[in-house]
Amino acid sequence: MTTPALAYIEGGSGDEETLRDNLDAWRRLALQPRVLRDMTQVETATTLLGTAVGAPVGLAPTAMHCLVDPDGETATARAAAETGTLMVASQAANRSWQDTAAAATDVLLWAQMYVLRDRGLTRELAVRAKESGSRAIVVCVDGVAVPRRARLEGHAFVPPEGMAFPNLVSAAAAASANGRGVDLGAAVSAFDPSVTFADLTWLKECTGLPLVVKGVLHPHDAAACVDAGADAIAVSNHGGRQLDGCIATADVLGEIADAVGDRAEVYVDGGIRTGPDVVKALALGARAAFVGRPALRALADGSAAGLAAYLADLREDVRRTLAFCGCASPAEVRREHVRPRGPR
Ligand SMILES: Cc1cc2nc3c(=O)[nH]c(=O)nc-3n(C[C@H](O)[C@H](O)[C@H](O)COP(=O)(O)O)c2cc1C
Repeated sequence: MTTPALAYIEGGSGDEETLRDNLDAWRRLALQPRVLRDMTQVETATTLLGTAVGAPVGLAPTAMHCLVDPDGETATARAAAETGTLMVASQAANRSWQDTAAAATDVLLWAQMYVLRDRGLTRELAVRAKESGSRAIVVCVDGVAVPRRARLEGHAFVPPEGMAFPNLVSAAAAASANGRGVDLGAAVSAFDPSVTFADLTWLKECTGLPLVVKGVLHPHDAAACVDAGADAIAVSNHGGRQLDGCIATADVLGEIADAVGDRAEVYVDGGIRTGPDVVKALALGARAAFVGRPALRALADGSAAGLAAYLADLREDVRRTLAFCGCASPAEVRREHVRPRGPR
């Protein structure tokens, strides 16, 4: 991988305060286990918007998997299918939602989208995601400005020549250019900064698929998204890549879960690295936690097999953490299992 590509993946925005705090915030929490509860059978499986998955862990949407593997998102999909993991496929992917869905039987896919200035194209792409087999639309709402990426200064990351962004172009444009040659900068400037809650209702109506709103960090916003029709809220600060200095997801997850109650599912990403991190997230009210950079590293290291091994290992870490906590399944994890860590 080139230095700029690695910096693009690993880095965050600004001084990377939020990037670091996402990791630290999980460490500021401690699990408080319960014992003597017969842990002979411990199940990691759960459901996300009604679909069965092997563990309360999913693959967060990340752009351009061809940077780390020549097969791109189709390799990711093979690993996801093999391990029963939900994959959220990015709108800035290098393989189309259709090809990603076709890469492995029974892969569970959701499509991540932005609301574009061109609402006709937004609708066309949402419908295409649905027709490709995506079972939900994940709309990312934290893209209203362009972040400053400190690590990239002086050696700006430019996607390799000819890199394809098939989920960002209309069928007509794809037919003429074969989905290639789309300038990522132009695509990013196509994201509509005027987006509001009313657009959520509109976007949901475009496909009728369940709608997940990703990038929520305030409990009032979470409640308003649910009022506008969201079926799930993904608590996320984009892995510290957008607003630097904003709150770590672990610090706001509990409040958001309380604000949403049982009206919608709540997910979280940002700094999730271990089974204990996942179980802390469940204790704070998340139904699942998602990983971004660790999955890209695993894919870079060992392609689909490497990613599948990583996901199996993380699932096993969740299983042993559940057992140690006295929880026979994700549903048994409660707020009482987590508390602020005491002073060191
Ligand atoms: C290289 C990279 C690309 C990303 N691309 C997208 C994207 O296209 N769409 C999106 O909604 N989120 C994107 N994200 C954010 C992730 O979905 C997720 O919020 C974040 O990676 C979670 O933090 P973690 O990397 O600490 O696990 C990206 C993150 C990374 C690291």
